[in-house]
Amino acid sequence: MFSKYKKAGNAAVKTTAKVANIPDAKPAAAAAVSPKAAASLRRPMDKGAARPAPADKERKRKERLSEIKLELHRALLDNLNLAALEHASEADLRGEISAIAQEILEERGVVLNREDRTTLNKELYDEVTGLGPLETLLQDESVNDILVNGPQQIFVERAGKLQLTDITFKDEKHLLRIIDKIVSAVGRRVDESNPYVDARLADGSRFNAMVPPVAVDGSLVSIRKFKKDKLGIDDLVSFGAFSEEMAAYLQAAVATRLNVIVSGGTGSGKTTTLNALSSFIDDAERILTIEDTAELQLQQTHVGRMESRPPNVEGKGEVSPRDCLKNALRMRPDRIIVGETRGEEVIDMLQAMNTGHDGSMTTIHANSARDGVSRLENMIAMAGIEMPLKAVRSQISSAVNLIVQASRLQDGSRRMTSITEITGMEGDVISMQEVFRYQRVGLTPENKIIGHFTATGVRSNYSERFRMWGYDLPASVYEPSVMEGV
Ligand SMILES: Nc1ncnc2c1ncn2[C@@H]1O[C@H](COP(=O)(O)OP(=O)(O)OP(=O)(O)O)[C@@H](O)[C@H]1O
Ligand SMILES: [Mg+2]
Repeated sequence: MFSKYKKAGNAAVKTTAKVANIPDAKPAAAAAVSPKAAASLRRPMDKGAARPAPADKERKRKERLSEIKLELHRALLDNLNLAALEHASEADLRGEISAIAQEILEERGVVLNREDRTTLNKELYDEVTGLGPLETLLQDESVNDILVNGPQQIFVERAGKLQLTDITFKDEKHLLRIIDKIVSAVGRRVDESNPYVDARLADGSRFNAMVPPVAVDGSLVSIRKFKKDKLGIDDLVSFGAFSEEMAAYLQAAVATRLNVIVSGGTGSGKTTTLNALSSFIDDAERILTIEDTAELQLQQTHVGRMESRPPNVEGKGEVSPRDCLKNALRMRPDRIIVGETRGEEVIDMLQAMNTGHDGSMTTIHANSARDGVSRLENMIAMAGIEMPLKAVRSQISSAVNLIVQASRLQDGSRRMTSITEITGMEGDVISMQEVFRYQRVGLTPENKIIGHFTATGVRSNYSERFRMWGYDLPASVYEPSVMEGV
C-alpha cells in the first residue's frame, strides 16, 4: 500500500531512515509516536535517479579522454576542410577523422588502447558532424527525453523514469556551442537578449533551450525524442496503457466523429494518445493538423500538416496556432487536429467543433476531465472574450463530447486513467459521466502500481449514435470488471 509517511519523510529526512534518527528530525506521524518509532515507519528515499558518476578510475580515464578530445577537436577543425565535409560520405569522413586524430596523437606522444581510440573517434565524429555528447543519447532507442541541467548534468528518461547519465559536456562553452549549432541550423538565435528557443532537430525531435543568465546554473536543454514508429493502438493496449474495451469504445467515438480532447500532465502521453486515436479516422477524410512542433504522424493519405512559428529576432513573422486554425477553416477540412490548445486558439477550436468540423481533436494540459473543462474556461477568459460563464460553459459542453485523461503514474507507467463523456448542462454546471477508469489497488514491494481498467457501469450517452453508424458495442463493454486475486 502507499506509505502515508512518505511525503512527511520527504521534508524531514535527508537521505535514509538512519539519518532520520538524529534528534532534531521531526517525527512524521502524530505526536504520540516517538521519533524512533516514526523513523522506522518511513521508507528509505529512492536516490536512484541521482546515482553518482562511475568509479574514480573510470572518471579519471574519462577526464583524460575528454581533454585529449577537446584538443583534438580544435586541431581537427584547423585541419579539416569543412567545406568539403558536406559532400564526403560517412565512411570517408570517419576514415579522415581517425587518420588525422592518429597523426595528432602520435605527434603528442599519446598512446590509447583500442577501445579508447574507437570511443575517441566516435566522439570526434559526433562533435564534428552532430551534436557532440548528445549524439549517443539521441541514437539510444530506449531514451525518450534528454534533459540537460548545465554542462555537468544530463538526465534521460527511460521507461517513464529519470536517470542521471555519466555523459557530460566539457564546460558551459561546449554546451553553448552545441545549442548554437542546433538553433542556427533552423535560422534562430539564442543569447542573453533572446534567452530561450524552441526548435526541431533534423531527426524531428522537439528541442527547447534556455541559456544563462536566465538559466542560473548553466544552459537548460530539454529534448523530446522523435519516435519513428509511433506507438499504435495495439502497442498501447499491449503495454497496458488502456484496455481492449476502451480501444473499441474509442474507435467508435472517433469513427462516429465525436469531438475528443486528450487531457494530461506534461509528458503523460497526450501526443502519443492523440496520434494513436487518429488511426481510427477513415482514410477518405481530409485531415489538417496544426502543431507548434510537428510531432504527429498520421497514417492517412490525405493529410495537410501545419506548424506555427514564433516571431523572429526582430519580433516579426509570427504565425500563431490561431492563425493556422483560422486558415485551416478555409481549407475544406473534414477534421482538424490541433497538437495542443493552450491559448486564444481555443475560441476557434470550440467554434470549429460546434460548426460542422465535428470529429476534431486536440490535447490540453490538465489533471482530470473536470480540471480540463476549467482550463478551457480559463483560456477563453484569457483570450479576452467577455461572455457570461454560463454561456462559456454551454459553448464548451456542446463542442466537446469526450475527455480522455492520460497520466504518468508514480512508477513511470503511462496509462489512460479515465474516459469521460460530457453530457450537457445541469443549471450552470457542465454535467459529465465517466465511462471507463483505471482503478488503482495497491503497490508491489518494487513500487509498481497494481491496478486494472474497468468500465464504471454507465452506458455511453452515444451508444445509439454508435449503433446507427455501425459500431454497435456489446453491453459487456460497459460492465465493470474486478481484478483477479484482489
Ligand atoms: N503508454 C505508453 N507507454 C510507454 N511509453 C509511452 C506511452 N505513452 C507515451 N510514451 C512515451 O512517452 C513520451 C512522452 O509522450 P508524449 O510526447 O505523447 O507526451 P505528451 O503528454 O504529449 O508530452 P508534452 O506535454 O511534453 O507534450 C514519448 O517518448 C512516448 O513515446
Ligand atoms: Mg505533446
